[in-house]
Amino acid sequence: MSEKKVALTTLGCKVNQYESAALEELFRRRGYQVVDFDSPADVYIINTCTVTHLGDRKSRQLIRRAGRTNPEAVVAVTGCYAQTAPDEVLNVEGVDLVVGAGHRAEIVDLVENVSKGRKVKAVEDIARCHDFEELPGESHQGRVRAFLKIQEGCENYCSYCIIPYARGPLRSRSPENVLAGVRNLVESGFKEVVLTGIHTGAYGRGNQDGVDLVGLLALLANVPGLVRLRLSSLEPNDITPDLLDLMAAGPPFCRHLHIPLQSGDDYILKRMRRRYDTNYFRRLLASVRDKLPEVGITTDIMVGFPGEEDEHFRNGCTFVKEMQFSALHVFKYSPRRGTPAAGFPDQVDPRVKEERSRKLIAVGHSLAQSFAARFLGRTASVLVEQPVDISEHLFSQVDQDLSGDAMNASGELFEGLTDNYVRVYFPAQDSLRGQLADVKVTELGGTGLKGRIIYK
Ligand code: 5AD
Repeated sequence: MSEKKVALTTLGCKVNQYESAALEELFRRRGYQVVDFDSPADVYIINTCTVTHLGDRKSRQLIRRAGRTNPEAVVAVTGCYAQTAPDEVLNVEGVDLVVGAGHRAEIVDLVENVSKGRKVKAVEDIARCHDFEELPGESHQGRVRAFLKIQEGCENYCSYCIIPYARGPLRSRSPENVLAGVRNLVESGFKEVVLTGIHTGAYGRGNQDGVDLVGLLALLANVPGLVRLRLSSLEPNDITPDLLDLMAAGPPFCRHLHIPLQSGDDYILKRMRRRYDTNYFRRLLASVRDKLPEVGITTDIMVGFPGEEDEHFRNGCTFVKEMQFSALHVFKYSPRRGTPAAGFPDQVDPRVKEERSRKLIAVGHSLAQSFAARFLGRTASVLVEQPVDISEHLFSQVDQDLSGDAMNASGELFEGLTDNYVRVYFPAQDSLRGQLADVKVTELGGTGLKGRIIYK
């Protein structure tokens, strides 16, 4: 009998990407071959996102696409959309199985027991999940930077956010298991490990052993062979002096923090039920920069939250510029069923959201360029990722060194990241993938940098 084939696709955040890698591993262990999502397979897994209505929509599109690629295949849907709207998902044409956040470890059995056309729902009340679900997946991530989930759940209940309902209460992976996971990744050759979670800064809260995020990082800092350790999103309230002191020790800690601001206006922050104001945030970034020179600080901003008038938006833009973020992720507010803000009366017109989003994205580009420009003429340590297409937009002025024969001689154009999260483009060979390279930065390239490798 030929090998059974499974194909996965993933929407949304880094946690989802980690979990998909884990699901792939579960299928591999049971003898499945993992194939491309667009090719014929016996099983399709769609790992969904529901943070905005676009997540829902894209999830449904991908579900239907799987059904078209092979109408005989079992189509299983998991992730945040599946967890929060299981019946809606089950009713999408072609879906056989909906797997909630508490049943992922059993996904292979669930898939094998389903018969085509009999819709099965394996979703439980996430509010009752109090244990960290261990999944494999530390060894087979097909990328250069490895994600590792250390924490699950959120209890902040910001007024716009559906994630606490999708992910449930706070729980953390044990320090021993995190350590083992990181060691595993390092042994598999990963130079960079990104610690992820839903409310990562709450790591260890409520744990018996008393190891918090700082304690955990202190343990991980000594793993032999770990070159880069990056933290994904941290709430402003969770960035403590102890954390910054530890990170200031340098490698393996990356000089990068993603700190979601959400809005740069105090009235809106309050209505969002965020637990800080712009003054707090300003002081926080001053102390971050004081302790971590050249740190890259990236953020998430939402536009068009209910009640956001032009004046609030302008305040927000001014504050964002003042904070000199090195990159912005801009989200258009999307009302989520069951969240308080969805019921606020003063919803913003979609066209206004669109316009504000456009403006803020432009602000983000110019901030990114200013940050990147600081590294012109210098040598940056870059983790080599994958080849890129030279787009007209990004490289309108491809310089002599990077074009034509010179470039063919030295390889394809690759991209990679510095530890402070600036994207760099440079010619390289495939053999350098996953390795650190010293890149002499010669010019700006889009919102990143261009340069060439210095071979020793
Ligand atoms: N609408 C738009 N964006 C949202 N986010 C969270 N909830 C919503 C929503 N209802 C954004 C926040 C968060 C990011 C992951 O998603 O900016 O930081």
